[in-house]
Amino acid sequence: MKLPFRYEKLGYAALNVTSLERSVPFYRDLMGLDLVEQHDDVAYLRCSSDHHNLVLYRSDTPGLKRVANKMATPESLKAAYEFYLAEGLDPRWLGMDECAELRQGPTFRVREPQSGVMFECYERMTHLALPYVPTVTKIARIGHVVVGSPNYERAVHNLHTQFNFAISDFVEHKFSWMRCYPNPLHHTFAIGNSDRNHLHHVNFMVTDIDDIGKAINRLEKAGVKIVFGPGRHLPSTSIFLYFLDPDGMTMEFSFGMEELPEDSARLPRMLEMHPNTMDIWGSTPDERFGKTGLIEVHHV
Ligand SMILES: [Fe+2]
Repeated sequence: MKLPFRYEKLGYAALNVTSLERSVPFYRDLMGLDLVEQHDDVAYLRCSSDHHNLVLYRSDTPGLKRVANKMATPESLKAAYEFYLAEGLDPRWLGMDECAELRQGPTFRVREPQSGVMFECYERMTHLALPYVPTVTKIARIGHVVVGSPNYERAVHNLHTQFNFAISDFVEHKFSWMRCYPNPLHHTFAIGNSDRNHLHHVNFMVTDIDDIGKAINRLEKAGVKIVFGPGRHLPSTSIFLYFLDPDGMTMEFSFGMEELPEDSARLPRMLEMHPNTMDIWGSTPDERFGKTGLIEVHHV
């Protein structure tokens, strides 16, 4: 099925955190994102020339506020809005004030009803004059957001047929890795079958295998809990490290990822549900891996 709009990339994730005073130093000093702006209730961080690739909102409850994808063209942005409207998904344009706060051009939001995830679509964001200069980690980009849902099968169907995510691989009835078409990265979003709608983790891709090794030592010295890895995922071939942010939400650094071409991409593989699918090196996740973080439902 060919949908009438194209994505460029995963632009940013917006998270709810209970304390900006704790979380900003964590994401800036331990993970290596650049703090662009901070106000009373919101902080904008980046790992590229974009004004933000991660936005932290002060909240009583930690979790996922929204996932924002950059569209390929202004025409794609408009076509996506019209498509969601016709599908009855009630997309909503943001007011000019909020677009200005976000340093974005015209922007709309639309919720995937089964997982509850609020997606945002925009086509331009302020490109900052000074480049992102890596500090403790050479972050290449925000890589992906992963959620869990008890409505897994219906959510995957919607994500594929309405949200234009191409499925790269899946574990039957359990997990699907998907890319915002035609972005070539193996996954920019993924969803697993779970007992409730929740955030699983947010990933940042690094440019150097040393960034994974250095992160292990730096995070352990700072008392940060590593909950899975280092290891290597079978589906994407990424080397990974998962750890907890100050609210207990799972973050990931990963190195390397398969890329699939726009045309003639290989078909998705149906992978076996096996510990080796998640880590061919054989490590075992901590019970807190991917558990903390609600999906916010009360916002437009
Ligand atoms: Fe991941």
